[in-house]
Amino acid sequence: MSLVRLDDVTKSVTLADDSTLEILRGVSLEVGAGDHVSIVGRSGSGKSTLLNILGMLDAPTTGTVAFEGAEVRRMRSGRLDRLRGNNVGFVFQQFNLLPGRTALDNVMMPLGHARGRMFWNRRQIAADMLERVGLGHRIDQLADRLSGGEQQRVAIARALVRRPVLILADEPTGALDIDTGASVMSLLDEVATETEAALVTITHDLHVAARARRHYRLDAGLLAPADLTRAFEASTLAEPVPAGPVTVGMSPEPAEEVAG
Ligand SMILES: Nc1ncnc2c1ncn2[C@@H]1O[C@H](COP(=O)(O)OP(=O)(O)O)[C@@H](O)[C@H]1O
Ligand SMILES: [Mg+2]
Repeated sequence: MSLVRLDDVTKSVTLADDSTLEILRGVSLEVGAGDHVSIVGRSGSGKSTLLNILGMLDAPTTGTVAFEGAEVRRMRSGRLDRLRGNNVGFVFQQFNLLPGRTALDNVMMPLGHARGRMFWNRRQIAADMLERVGLGHRIDQLADRLSGGEQQRVAIARALVRRPVLILADEPTGALDIDTGASVMSLLDEVATETEAALVTITHDLHVAARARRHYRLDAGLLAPADLTRAFEASTLAEPVPAGPVTVGMSPEPAEEVAG
């Protein structure tokens, strides 16, 4: 079943000098229930813009966005807010936690808008979620006292606490070292699979991208299926001693992708 579907989506903004910047130039993408999709692309290629449109935080300039078959443009803002709150969980590169609040407070926050059982049991539900991400012993710690990896686990717990059907991760490992990033990604994959949520991960790290089942590449606002095997080969050729994370754009030629 189609969860979220973009048809020929463009996004343009008018800059201070009155010129127009075309950020997305006709993107079509369908994400099904339980799908795991990765999107790689250089900095400035429009990845965050695309993710915000998928998550209904931002509207396209032209084209359509449909969530579970309903066209988003036609919705009133109250309905849209509820739809997003009930269905979408975001994980960002910079964690975006409230620094002076505890891990538990941060994870409970989205449940403040929930109804019924979820609202009344929010403390227990948040504590259970923190337990699930391996932070059961840290629930009362202030967010800014936690390590980067721990903060991202809290952010994952917060994104998942309302059991969203769609998890959107924008460079979730971008602020973490390789090992911490890898364990955070396994956790994200695991919990998404466990809850049968769809996961869309945006990254410039090919190892992170390779975890998904379907791979895309965004290049100057155009989305195309990506062949990660070829991208890996190109990166390996470019860097004989693989020392760090393999990133798109380090190769002398852009990694090629095949259509299909
Ligand atoms: N609201 C905006 N106003 C002006 N420029 C923007 C705006 N949003 C994004 N951009 C520009 O559009 C391009 C793509 O942005 P973004 O989607 O954040 O790319 P990415 O996440 O791939 O780095 C960048 O050059 C960025 O500076
Ligand atoms: Mg970005």
